[in-house]
Amino acid sequence: MSAPSLRQVRRPIEEELRIFRKYFKEVMKSRMTLLNWILRYIHKTKGKQIRPILVLLSAKANGKVSEKSYTAAALLEILHTATLVHDDIVDEAEKRRGFFTINALWKNKVAVLVGDYLLSRGMLLALENKYYTMLGILSRAVKVMSEGELLQMEKSRNPTLTEMEYFEIIKGKTASLLAAACAAGTASVTSDQTRIHRMEEFGMDLGIAFQIKDDLLDIEGQNTGKTRGSDLIDRKITLPVIHALAHSSGWEKKQMQRLIAKKKKSNSDLQTLFHWIKEKDGLEYARSQMNTFKNKAVDALSSLDDSKCKTALLELCNYVTSRRK
Ligand code: IPE
Ligand code: IPE
Ligand code: MG
Ligand code: MG
Repeated sequence: MSAPSLRQVRRPIEEELRIFRKYFKEVMKSRMTLLNWILRYIHKTKGKQIRPILVLLSAKANGKVSEKSYTAAALLEILHTATLVHDDIVDEAEKRRGFFTINALWKNKVAVLVGDYLLSRGMLLALENKYYTMLGILSRAVKVMSEGELLQMEKSRNPTLTEMEYFEIIKGKTASLLAAACAAGTASVTSDQTRIHRMEEFGMDLGIAFQIKDDLLDIEGQNTGKTRGSDLIDRKITLPVIHALAHSSGWEKKQMQRLIAKKKKSNSDLQTLFHWIKEKDGLEYARSQMNTFKNKAVDALSSLDDSKCKTALLELCNYVTSRRK
């Protein structure tokens, strides 16, 4: 299958996404002036909205889209937004979606509170509607995400980081929310636990592929809307680097470890690292791992009845691994 566009993936849920967007816009408002400013800024610079797309496709592929499905879609995008606001503080990131981050514009103190506000605002959506199953799925995902981000802080600067540890980190910090999107979307239309579980597995594998692609884009991406090389600048070790380290030895390995550990890297330091990673087949290896998980995700859908939404979910797998941002 050739690389599909996100527009193509969205086609079977255009109408549902329109309703979701209205809902999301409504939630991203506040009577507090400063907060309202920031929420409007975030809303204006919105991202790809992959998670609500996953919620609605999972819902429609498994039953009849309901009020609950729209709440789940809005909730997912709010929680995702909250975690990005917090993640950019943690990573000291300056750019997101081609614009300055909240921490860059309003400083960390404000960004922490905006992230907290969005997290609680999201959870309240489920609580106010008495959607307790959804509340459970999402609270657990947020818990696992925080653990993943903390595990990353604890381990990812360690030059001996293993692949197993890397996978544990990305399952937690990223895949858990994509899994929750699929589970919540499915749970909004059926109480069949086998179905919900299968869709959750699908989201987990897709989420792992998604984060490997994010880590690849950090090294080889152009105009992604984020700062290229930000993981290396921040001394974060990702899959391509793990592979390159494992295939280097002696002086070279020491030299590269020293460069990665450098707090202030020059542009030429970064270029040296990019070149070395490529030469050691780090990118190629990460791509092959990414495709393994994408294929697992595709397999997880095999028991789903054929429909336009199932096709779109399959296209989404290809989109995730071929996207440019
Ligand atoms: C970014 O997610 C954070 C990661 C988990 C890598 P997205 O790439 O889905 O971000 P937006 O919402 O489209 O900007
Ligand atoms: C995803 O990891 C973090 C989240 C769970 C939000 P990254 O730190 O690589 O995400 P980006 O690259 O900043 O979007
Ligand atoms: Mg980050
Ligand atoms: Mg990244």
